[in-house]
Amino acid sequence: MKSPDLAVHWGPLRLSNPLVLSSGTHGMGEDGPRLFPPEILGAIVSKTVTVDPREGNPPPRVAETPCGMLNSIGLPNPGIDAYERDVHPRLVSLGVPVIVSIAGFTRDEYRTLAARVDRLESVAGIEVNVSCPNVERGGMVAGASPGETLAVLEAVTGETDRAVVAKLTPNVTDIVEIGQAAMEGGARMLSVINTLVGMSVDVDRRCSNLGVMTGGLSGPAIHPVGLANLWKLAKATGAPVLGGGGVVSAEGALAYLIAGASAVGIGTATFVDPFAPVHILEGIADYLERHEFASVTEVIGSLAETQADLSFPEEAC
Ligand code: FUM
Repeated sequence: MKSPDLAVHWGPLRLSNPLVLSSGTHGMGEDGPRLFPPEILGAIVSKTVTVDPREGNPPPRVAETPCGMLNSIGLPNPGIDAYERDVHPRLVSLGVPVIVSIAGFTRDEYRTLAARVDRLESVAGIEVNVSCPNVERGGMVAGASPGETLAVLEAVTGETDRAVVAKLTPNVTDIVEIGQAAMEGGARMLSVINTLVGMSVDVDRRCSNLGVMTGGLSGPAIHPVGLANLWKLAKATGAPVLGGGGVVSAEGALAYLIAGASAVGIGTATFVDPFAPVHILEGIADYLERHEFASVTEVIGSLAETQADLSFPEEAC
């Protein structure tokens, strides 16, 4: 039997396989692919870039939790000038589609960043980070409001024809409403989920394990949350959605694809196993062969929908 075809389409992007290295989990984007062959990735998302250089939040900036990891990194990055000059050429040299992640603290900053990234060569897409929980303005503050999400996406898409993806936060009541606002603002794809706001306490010292009290939870603990958000969003909006959050195995990645994800984000898994993307991709290929699928696209959105009747029988009322 021929090896299964792993290529997927995520909106206008054709990726050689569904695995996308998530923003912020590999330095500026190149640390993981120093260890494994970059071509095993469908795409790389850069660390989020801001207009000005940022030091990030005071330490400690990461803390381990049962089944997960908290981070309060605070968007440290060298700023758009240094990104353009030093980082982008290095990411492009890996030979994998590069999606540049941006975050502003005002709509104008998002606009400026979009215009700057638009003029770079070899940009597969622009990820608009409206979901970072570790900053006081922009980030999740913008992405928790449908109106502000719409305005930020309009600001970005007014400056570029590149494929724009909105990365959304799960820390909202109705992610569908936010996703619809992002698409109305001109996003062509969506990405879920960024981290969940969390906290852990050192009981001996009676203080938070993070320098700024709270942070964002990632890792296996959030996989079910990511999956539910992805499923709801893909079903309700019909948008091409990348699903991620807590993927540490081929089964975890396949669950996102089956629930309707066009592609899958991998991030925190590599803190435990730097070769996780290699193992996950091998596992997906093996699953497709075992189940006699010719292409990974055959499993996308193949989830059986249950028809449970949740209404109470009249006699029970
Ligand atoms: O704090 C950080 O740098 C995290 C960014 C994010 O979650 O988007």
